[in-house]
Amino acid sequence: MKKLLSVAALAALASAALALAACQPQKAAPKAGASAAPKFNTDLPMTEFMGHFVDPAAFMYWKGSGTMIDEKGEHDLSPTTDEGWNVLVSGATMLMEAGNSLQIDGRRRAPEADWNKYAQLLTERALIARKAAEARDKKAVFDEGGKVYEVCVACHEQFVIQPDIKANGPAKGNPLPIFPNDVEKKIEKKAGG
Ligand code: HEC
Repeated sequence: MKKLLSVAALAALASAALALAACQPQKAAPKAGASAAPKFNTDLPMTEFMGHFVDPAAFMYWKGSGTMIDEKGEHDLSPTTDEGWNVLVSGATMLMEAGNSLQIDGRRRAPEADWNKYAQLLTERALIARKAAEARDKKAVFDEGGKVYEVCVACHEQFVIQPDIKANGPAKGNPLPIFPNDVEKKIEKKAGG
């Protein structure tokens, strides 16, 4: 069989091999620090992780739920298109994975048992919220969005607010994200009777 290979074929094979070899250095050259074993880069500070991953993901979800009241009356904020609903599903998906990501080496904070509990709760509730968005169930989206928010608040209370009070005395600002819909107004209404 070998004899049947023409010179041209051999030359083609050889040049293909050469081309492959030429490609290899680019393909195979690992970036500094890359390794075959799983390795996570947690260089971003927690504030960046929160502000540019968790928070935008949460707002992708929250912005598409509930109602907004302005001078023209009450507006339903729920999506009206497939794309719109998919934004909510995407936001919930990111939050679900954020819960996983919060628990990797380099991100956990002590006491880790509490930290992990909040992170797992974020994933758990984001998954339920995701299902609500997939089902396009407006009421469930609103309710589950609120339950996700409770996890943000609970973790911040223990890991941001209390340590800050311990270190600097009574809090000066509000580091918590504001729930963007009419929740606050409703709470005020209830409080006001
Ligand atoms: C497992 C705990 C935990 C959960 C859950 C959590 N956070 Fe955070 N978040 C933190 C910590 C810790 C900080 C403060 C980081 C620091 O100061 O080092 C923070 C800070 C923030 C900040 C301020 C970022 C900045 O630039 O200062 C925002 C916004 C935020 N979180 C949004 C959210 C939202 C929205 C959720 C829920 C969807 C959430 N977080 C859930 C722990 C958590």
